[in-house]
Amino acid sequence: MRLRTWLCCPLAAASLTLAAVEPSAGSDFRPSKELARRRGPEIFNAVHNAMRQWGSSLHHNGMSFFLATVPQGVLFHHGSSSPDPPSQPDWLAYEIEHAENFARGRRGPGGPPGRGPPGDGPDGGPQEVMGSPWHGTEMVDGAEVHGYLHVYETTRPLKFLYIDGMGAGKTSMGTLDSQDYLLRGKSPENGTDSTPRPRRRPDGQPPERPRGGGPMDEQQRARDLCQLCKEWDLQGVVRMEAGFEIIKCDFSDGLQEVQVLQRPDEIPGRPGGFGNLEYFRGVSERYNGIGSSRTAIDYSSMVSAFFFPVNLTNPNPKRQDLPRLRSAEQPQLAEIKSYLESVIHARRDHASRVIDWQDVSDLIVSRYADRVKYMAEAVQDIGAMAREVNFLLTLFVDGSDKGDSLELGISRCSNFYLRSVSPVTEADVLIRTAFETVTREICTTLFRVRSLVVTDPAPDQSSLAASVSVLRALMQSLNWARFKRCPPCGIDEVCVIPMWPMGTVEEYNNPQCSNGTETGERYWDGGPGRPPGDRRPGDGDAPPPSEL
Ligand SMILES: *[C@@H]1O[C@H](CO)[C@@H](O)[C@H](O)[C@H]1NC(C)=O
Ligand SMILES: *[C@@H]1O[C@H](CO)[C@@H](O)[C@H](O)[C@H]1NC(C)=O
Ligand SMILES: *[C@@H]1O[C@H](CO)[C@@H](O)[C@H](O)[C@H]1NC(C)=O
Repeated sequence: MRLRTWLCCPLAAASLTLAAVEPSAGSDFRPSKELARRRGPEIFNAVHNAMRQWGSSLHHNGMSFFLATVPQGVLFHHGSSSPDPPSQPDWLAYEIEHAENFARGRRGPGGPPGRGPPGDGPDGGPQEVMGSPWHGTEMVDGAEVHGYLHVYETTRPLKFLYIDGMGAGKTSMGTLDSQDYLLRGKSPENGTDSTPRPRRRPDGQPPERPRGGGPMDEQQRARDLCQLCKEWDLQGVVRMEAGFEIIKCDFSDGLQEVQVLQRPDEIPGRPGGFGNLEYFRGVSERYNGIGSSRTAIDYSSMVSAFFFPVNLTNPNPKRQDLPRLRSAEQPQLAEIKSYLESVIHARRDHASRVIDWQDVSDLIVSRYADRVKYMAEAVQDIGAMAREVNFLLTLFVDGSDKGDSLELGISRCSNFYLRSVSPVTEADVLIRTAFETVTREICTTLFRVRSLVVTDPAPDQSSLAASVSVLRALMQSLNWARFKRCPPCGIDEVCVIPMWPMGTVEEYNNPQCSNGTETGERYWDGGPGRPPGDRRPGDGDAPPPSEL
């Protein structure tokens, strides 16, 4: 792809990045370096969090797409009420614990077996009885229907579209925006936000299924996405909820069955289902990555709404931290989609990625995250602040001081991790621009702290306070998921953050070590399930989000 040149001017990085941008018309509607600069921290985080359960749970409204390759020989799991492989688009889980939630019998007539998210069957199809205890077997019209756990292995490298954020979270908070508004061309009237979430009925019957859209319209969503994948010559999409999953459009293509075993009828003492400790253990193992031998992201294929002049403002005034595509104009979203298509055509047949931007982001985050947080939140005296900032900046300061300028130091610091990366695609140029914004902001802040507590001949308490204040502003601007990491947990606990369909508001604001027991206000306001607070600890009966 030919790289365009841009006329650009530096913009204050700290000025808030989700701010609405005037829509521009026609051929001006292109990715721009200026926007990559303004939304640098968001783009940096999207790259840093790709295929990572932790950061994608915190920054759950994904605005970006990447090409993803699953190599040959990778195992996937599928739970259903049929021993047969699915004949329609269906779900594959990366984790065993995830698929086990769906390897269960089910109640209710109609619909081919093994299809459809429970509670969302097509046209009066199967419905899960929410709140039933975990059983491997259920009765259907007096006959037993068992649960089966299928294991598949890829027989060749397969190409997918990775939809970032919590793209499999069936909420109306924005987790589905990039699928429903951008890929599927829905409007807020008939997309994610069109129907109220299903509610448990007072008579204890299964909730009524929303019709004609809404977050839970998963069957239609899967059909639409697979139609698109067919046009784009892809095998399906990769998304994340509590666990990564694939919507595989055709199970007969590129997969081989390893085993299919009927589940035991009952597992004594096992609460089962979403929300139990073993499930949390399974998905929390992927907080820092799915493993590049299981799925490789082509960062040079990144297409993000952050690159384009669209309005990403969240209409919810309380969640200005989360971008949305609700306010974006439909013709603009259609243009992003056609740009995505052109990138997929250009990149699909590349054997492997060229630049591992996530590795670059890891070097930056691992060098600065804990130290910046320590300086911003724990350092109490000027001496400690001076030692820490000197330690970080000595590398970039010429000790002989022969005309060494502040600007030179900041520039050495900002370019340090980027100098060896040569952009190939337009995405690379935009990502580099975003990363440069981030490193420049870090370096400018650190040199400011240095001037306050090191080069100032008589630093005092106000120098310390001013340092803490600029460092806190930096943390807020960077908004790294790493800043919310738990301290190490006991062996019978995991660090818990809301992952659809689980989680509480408190766990979002302050992730903590937990045995999976959930108390407090439910985080996912748009999801299905009980009203806030109506969840018994450990009962694990949150409605399964999709069939695996
Ligand atoms: C509903 O969504 C479809 C795309 O699936 C779109 O073509 C149509 O215009 C939308 N209808 C309304 C009323 O917004
Ligand atoms: C962007 O969207 C927000 C929320 O819907 C709206 O208040 C604002 O006016 C929009 N900005 C522009 C420039 O259209
Ligand atoms: C989990 O932890 C809570 C308190 O945090 C405790 O009340 C509960 O008994 C624990 N459950 C199990 C199964 O250990």
